[in-house]
Amino acid sequence: MIEPLSFQTQILDWYDVHGRKSLPWQQHDPYIVWISEIMLQQTQVETVIPFFNRFIQRFPDLNTLSSAPIEAVIELWAGLGYYARARNLHRTAQVVVREHDGKFPKTNHELESLPGIGRSTAGAILSLGFGIRAPILDGNLKRVFSRQIGLETWPGSSTAQNKLWALIDHLTPEFRVGPFNQALMDIGALVCRRKNPKCMVCPINASCNALATQRIDTIPAPKPIRKKLTKKIFALVLCDTNQQIYLERRPPEGIWGGLNSFPEFSDLDSLFAFVQNRFKETVEPAVGAPLKHVFTHFELIMTPIHLTIPCHQAFEASPMGKWFSVEGKLGAPAPVEKILKLREVHFHKTPHRGGHQNDEIS
Ligand code: ADE
Repeated sequence: MIEPLSFQTQILDWYDVHGRKSLPWQQHDPYIVWISEIMLQQTQVETVIPFFNRFIQRFPDLNTLSSAPIEAVIELWAGLGYYARARNLHRTAQVVVREHDGKFPKTNHELESLPGIGRSTAGAILSLGFGIRAPILDGNLKRVFSRQIGLETWPGSSTAQNKLWALIDHLTPEFRVGPFNQALMDIGALVCRRKNPKCMVCPINASCNALATQRIDTIPAPKPIRKKLTKKIFALVLCDTNQQIYLERRPPEGIWGGLNSFPEFSDLDSLFAFVQNRFKETVEPAVGAPLKHVFTHFELIMTPIHLTIPCHQAFEASPMGKWFSVEGKLGAPAPVEKILKLREVHFHKTPHRGGHQNDEIS
């Protein structure tokens, strides 16, 4: 375990010489600290500065912000991205005015119950805004402390986070907690960088396990890539010779809920049974190139089975099925549109190319 007192001395001595002391939000004011911390959650310091200055000029205090229309807040946020942050900021201002008499609460618990404020942001408001002892652990600090203790697991996992929070809590001082936390953030951003860290000038290099064991390049460990499940289906691309296409409305739940799509089957036998039950004449299907569509939790490989019939009136539609003009509005998901576009190219010419068409990520 790292010894807190010498660790704190190294950090604070470094801060006195090298730490940032004139960032526009370094003002011991919880409102100012809160606004800056929210802006800095996903955005670099240099980008934030002009947005921060404009924002504070327009909304100098909590009351002004809470009584402003949300549109005015969003307008000043434009360009910073992640607009949920602006909405949460506005909501939190209103809650603090209404429920806390316009003053920021001074406990982790109360701060963390406000929209957009997590444990680390609460820690920053308490320590930088009020001088109250509270640890912080943002993304950069997860890297710093993973290296300090040689943590080989991905620091975003809950076990790793529990370990890191316990460590940082153990190391956070009672006095000068604001400069201590600011120093850690400065070290995280400027010294203990992901690539090309400046270990030679790092004030805590003596206790750094990753440096001692030459694992700076491999710690922190990346987020494990979870292999996605693959679902394979056959899609019936049924057309008539008048460029009418048969689609069925999907159930409201599940993927592409409520959109129109090809009838889909897990195997070819059930696809042919479906056709033969509804269309008595002999048919000649053609197999198209499989198309891959990636969803958040699985990937879908859809093999189109092209079938052209002379006259769609002879086909008995299902209750959810309808014939559409290929040229018209289909209310269909992108992969369906894509298969229809490719139909002209692949149909008959290249019935099966073996590989997958890669579709866009959804
Ligand atoms: N990132 C998050 N909070 C910060 C702060 N107070 N100063 C610099 N970078 C930061």
